[in-house]
Amino acid sequence: MQSDLKWLRDEVVGMYRRNRQQGHAPWANLDYDFVCPSMETYPFQWLWDSCFHAVVLSHFDVKRACGEMECLLQNQQPDGFLGHVTFWQREKFENVIANYDIAWRNQYVTDCIQPPLLAEAVEAAVVRGASTAWLKTMLPKLRGFYDWLDQNRDPDRDGLIAVVQADETGLDHSPKWDALIGSPALTTAAFTEGWKRVAKPYEPFKREHAKMFALDHFIVEDVMVNTIYVKNLQVMAGLYQRVGDAASAAEMKRRADLGYGSLLTKCWSEEKGMFFDLVGHRAEKHLTHAITFTVLMPLLFPELPAPMARRLIAHLEDEKLFAAAFPVPTVAVSDPSFDPGPVGPRLVWRGPSWMNSNWYLARGLRAHGRDDLSQKLEQAMLAAIRQHGFREYYQPFTGEGYGAPDFSWTGLILDLYETREARG
Ligand code: GLC
Repeated sequence: MQSDLKWLRDEVVGMYRRNRQQGHAPWANLDYDFVCPSMETYPFQWLWDSCFHAVVLSHFDVKRACGEMECLLQNQQPDGFLGHVTFWQREKFENVIANYDIAWRNQYVTDCIQPPLLAEAVEAAVVRGASTAWLKTMLPKLRGFYDWLDQNRDPDRDGLIAVVQADETGLDHSPKWDALIGSPALTTAAFTEGWKRVAKPYEPFKREHAKMFALDHFIVEDVMVNTIYVKNLQVMAGLYQRVGDAASAAEMKRRADLGYGSLLTKCWSEEKGMFFDLVGHRAEKHLTHAITFTVLMPLLFPELPAPMARRLIAHLEDEKLFAAAFPVPTVAVSDPSFDPGPVGPRLVWRGPSWMNSNWYLARGLRAHGRDDLSQKLEQAMLAAIRQHGFREYYQPFTGEGYGAPDFSWTGLILDLYETREARG
């Protein structure tokens, strides 16, 4: 255990040194300093990646964890919106951008969101030593984004937010979206076509949400996005309590409770024992979606009723669904769309195991008394990392690593080991 942890610490510190991006962005007249996902394919600053990176950094350099969040929020728009990528140093990497499908807000910022785990990232820095004064500078910014989401992305006022295209979930090519984007063949070109079919019609609306929602061609209340959203509202409530702002804490708790209640009443399928996304204006449970790891995500809530948790955990132990030597496959292995990977050129989230989804699921297992399963998952991931390096994702049966090399959020394994060590 000790030697694993020591090895991990050294490796992650090294990778976070190599992936650090620092400089001055003349277009914004701002300095930037962040950890990019991977130097080769993702040299820019992504929203949810940076939050994961801040969690990891909090274990060996709290100042940099704070800096990561400050840098991310530097480019928050006046209305509270935060784009999913900021291209601080785009001039250096124009060739990389040529491969992306991007909805642009302007030349340097994208026009879509990503899962909002800002509060968890800030909390990680705070519990490991960031000052209350720093927290007080962050809270209004975080609140700005959560208010923006509440006001713009929850038209049916059920406390769950909707995404308007796949990238906003962070799960770009998940087979969950196949039907919604026109059942593409497994080629980059087909997915680009599918992406355009969804994203292009929004362009003339300049983010007028009423018009975007009126198109009703990709409105999804995604279970993973909303598990993260609700969890982060709960964390926001705790952060407000820390600074003695009871009224704001109560408002965050009210929103969290509303969203949590909707997840349980609207997304749960008693028949399947899984949580399903809500799709379209009528917010129908999408039981025909491919079965992906997101059906399990509410396990993260310790307060999830035990009978539901038991059924989710049974799926994690079922070899026809989510049990594998190197878990957790992002698509159930018996689903017709499952592919252990690598899938086509750069197609992601169609089967291989990822560390960020595992980070959430492992914490859910711990919360529901299945530390044994969490530990098995952590040990398997560590074995894969030791053998194949910090890759973007791993083959669930062999542990082989694929995708971007030196991939920063795979460093989340360090958080799981550090928190296990701290609990003794
Ligand atoms: C891929 C992933 C997305 C991630 C990005 C940068 O597009 O699907 O979730 O944020 O890479 O790592």
